[in-house]
Amino acid sequence: MTLATNVDFERVLLPHPGRSEPLNLKEYRAEGGYAGWQKALTSMTADQVIEEVKASGLRGRGGAGFPTGTKWSFIPKAPGAKYVAVNADESEPGTFKDRELMEVEPHRVLEGIALCCYAIGAETAFIYIRGEYVCAADRLEAAIAEAEAAGVLGQGCHGTSVNVTIIVFRGAGAYICGEETALLESLEGKRPMPRSRPPFPAVEGLYRRPTVINNVETLANVPSIIARGSDWYNTIGIPPRNTGPKIFCLSGRVNRPGNYELPLGAATIRQLIDDYGQGVIGGRAVKGVLTAGVSAPILTADKLDTKLDYDSVQAAGSMLGSASLIVLDEGTCMVRAAALMEEFFRHESCGKCTPCREGTSWLFEILTRIETGRGMESDLDLLLSLSGEVAGKVLCALGDFATSPVVATVKQYREEYEQHIKEGRCPFDPW
Ligand SMILES: Cc1cc2nc3c(=O)[nH]c(=O)nc-3n(C[C@H](O)[C@H](O)[C@H](O)COP(=O)(O)O)c2cc1C
Ligand code: SF4
Repeated sequence: MTLATNVDFERVLLPHPGRSEPLNLKEYRAEGGYAGWQKALTSMTADQVIEEVKASGLRGRGGAGFPTGTKWSFIPKAPGAKYVAVNADESEPGTFKDRELMEVEPHRVLEGIALCCYAIGAETAFIYIRGEYVCAADRLEAAIAEAEAAGVLGQGCHGTSVNVTIIVFRGAGAYICGEETALLESLEGKRPMPRSRPPFPAVEGLYRRPTVINNVETLANVPSIIARGSDWYNTIGIPPRNTGPKIFCLSGRVNRPGNYELPLGAATIRQLIDDYGQGVIGGRAVKGVLTAGVSAPILTADKLDTKLDYDSVQAAGSMLGSASLIVLDEGTCMVRAAALMEEFFRHESCGKCTPCREGTSWLFEILTRIETGRGMESDLDLLLSLSGEVAGKVLCALGDFATSPVVATVKQYREEYEQHIKEGRCPFDPW
């Protein structure tokens, strides 16, 4: 649930903090909804829409931060079927922003999808939504029916010759389904295993046709960019590389977890925890913060004054990713935390590449034996060398993600590992 925030800022993506019911078509229109869609259909070419999105500086909110307008411009102009695949898999631990967007602002998401279809010349979009998001999927389907009945979407949108059909596809329930090429495989009814690239999805995507894959939050930004213009969008955040609003998912050992919408770079990690999350439970000290779920290195407590934007978090040694901040306090055993994260990756590895399939299992085994007091001094070098045999030697980023918790904790909290090995037990709570 979104709660009140204290930066003076007009919320763009989730303008109704605390609301849990979906905005219907009438309510969304009353707030200027579908104005961008109407504007594009009546006064903009597809290329103009792409140029406006490029000029906004919008970067993908799914993790990699790739510029959205540039991604759209890669789609070939030649006639023939093209597709939009919306990534609503949202399986990264600590990530729950897309869920709220789809549950509360379904029409904003649909309008963004329609604009993307128009920009790249696609008539069909699929929303690949994780199976557990039953409420969000039902609400999206209801909103699609509502928009089609009103002539906003479907055949002949707003009385033009433009057709946009949006289909909700309920996912198969694995983290790897969020990797964009595994998502395409799953949409095609196959086992979700990432494809090797090239060819990239912009050339050969869904059913081997040109396809744009975008995150839900990315697309939810687009209606306002088109309706209000890229100049207005550039007043939010830090242009040119960190523009726009961002939803920060705050969880872990904080008093008030939740989704907080803020301009990129407007708050530091410390402000998010203290002012929005109302501090750490029990007033304990922060030991570390994960900024991108479990997929990027932990930042140590001396990095709490890092601003929350792509470049600042990267300069501090991690990644903003999906902006899912998990706070670990002074009572956390970092060896155990690393082992739990590795257990997740071991379970979610699709098994296609040997270094990832075998490496995640071995990393988990070694972390577990250290945590349970059976570690050896040589294990620390072994963890680092084994991680080096996985990262960069696999087909998709899951393998790289899987080494982050290990490398970051061994390097930054080495003394905790050494204490486990020396004392032959966990100095924190037993496993
Ligand atoms: C293992 C793995 C899981 C991912 N899960 C998601 C996800 O749940 N949602 C998402 O939007 N992107 C996810 N991504 C990133 C996508 O592959 C892709 O970069 C993104 O959907 C592109 O959208 P964007 O440009 O709008 O960010 C994942 C990537 C990997 C490697
Ligand atoms: S890196 Fe891991 S998850 Fe990705 S394709 Fe290879 S085995 Fe599958």
